[in-house]
Amino acid sequence: MTVTEIKPLEPGPGQVVITVEAAGVNYVDGLFVHGRYQIKPPLPFVPGSEIAGTVTAVGPDVTGPAVGTRVLAGCGLGGFAEQVVVPAAAAVPIPDELDAARAATFTQSYCTALSALRERGGLKPGENILVLGAGGGVGLAAVQVAKALGARVLAGASTEGKRDAALAAGADAVLDTSTDVKSAARAWSEGGVDLVYDPVGGALADPALRALRENGRYLVIGFASGTIPALPLNQVLLRNRAVVGVDWGAWSGSNPQAQRALLNELLRQVRDGHLDPVPPHTEPLDAAGKVLDDLLNRRVIGKVALLP
Ligand SMILES: NC(=O)c1ccc[n+]([C@@H]2O[C@H](COP(=O)([O-])OP(=O)(O)OC[C@H]3O[C@@H](n4cnc5c(N)ncnc54)[C@H](OP(=O)(O)O)[C@@H]3O)[C@@H](O)[C@H]2O)c1
Repeated sequence: MTVTEIKPLEPGPGQVVITVEAAGVNYVDGLFVHGRYQIKPPLPFVPGSEIAGTVTAVGPDVTGPAVGTRVLAGCGLGGFAEQVVVPAAAAVPIPDELDAARAATFTQSYCTALSALRERGGLKPGENILVLGAGGGVGLAAVQVAKALGARVLAGASTEGKRDAALAAGADAVLDTSTDVKSAARAWSEGGVDLVYDPVGGALADPALRALRENGRYLVIGFASGTIPALPLNQVLLRNRAVVGVDWGAWSGSNPQAQRALLNELLRQVRDGHLDPVPPHTEPLDAAGKVLDDLLNRRVIGKVALLP
């Protein structure tokens, strides 16, 4: 990956140009760069799927947001740059409470968490949840969103630094995922957790499934471990458990109005002080390759934002 100059962007009809103040780094950006994502863009391409900044030009037929509005936007690709061009409808005004770095790392992690926990998992106040990968991007967000929904949160992570981050984000207790996950989670929840939120997969999946109580739900979020686990279905039958898939990316693409409502609800919670997103680490744009390498190799705690 190299930083290079390209021509300034011009907005087409219905589009806005955003001058990027921060670009959020996501696991999926690393998959794109490695050519391991299901969509393989022709080379060369600019990675980066979510940004925050200020609208600096609007094309014909745009009724808002106006030039000068602070916005965040999902852009699929092109975010690791000084400018992006997106459809005006994709540029969402951000509350003063969110600086550019936190806004640029908000949408994917927090929307995934709320859509998984509430819409797919039916999380109710007072329920016990085990969040795996709790020191990572979607995991830390899930800790905060689960707390905001009134749940008790056990945060699982592999290092003390990640567990400390989960505690600081509001987790009630932490679990070292290199130990006996099933026994520890059952002991903490006095018999079994109601929900598992799993962005990691691999060897953690089996003990986490067995940690579920009667009517427990297992949310399949991702496979950051690199291994898609095979779950024993007898363990799903036993205790009337459910395994529930979560594909927020596809859902948000085919339900743009519902996605906008979900995002606005989360932004309102930030404005009202019910959600205080964890500030990301920040790095300059030309550190993008190193940051993606760190992310894909488990070395990042929370999120990273690139500042062009
Ligand atoms: N379903 C959806 O809609 C959706 C939406 C967004 C993201 N995702 C997926 O969720 C997964 C996690 O995303 P993220 O942004 O949270 O990533 P992340 O910030 O890198 O966190 C992933 C966590 O996975 C754990 N992990 C275990 N083995 C790993 C390995 N070999 N390499 C990297 N991480 C490993 C690490 O925690 P420990 O060190 O504590 O084990 C790490 O903190 C990705 O697969 C992503 O594609 C899914």
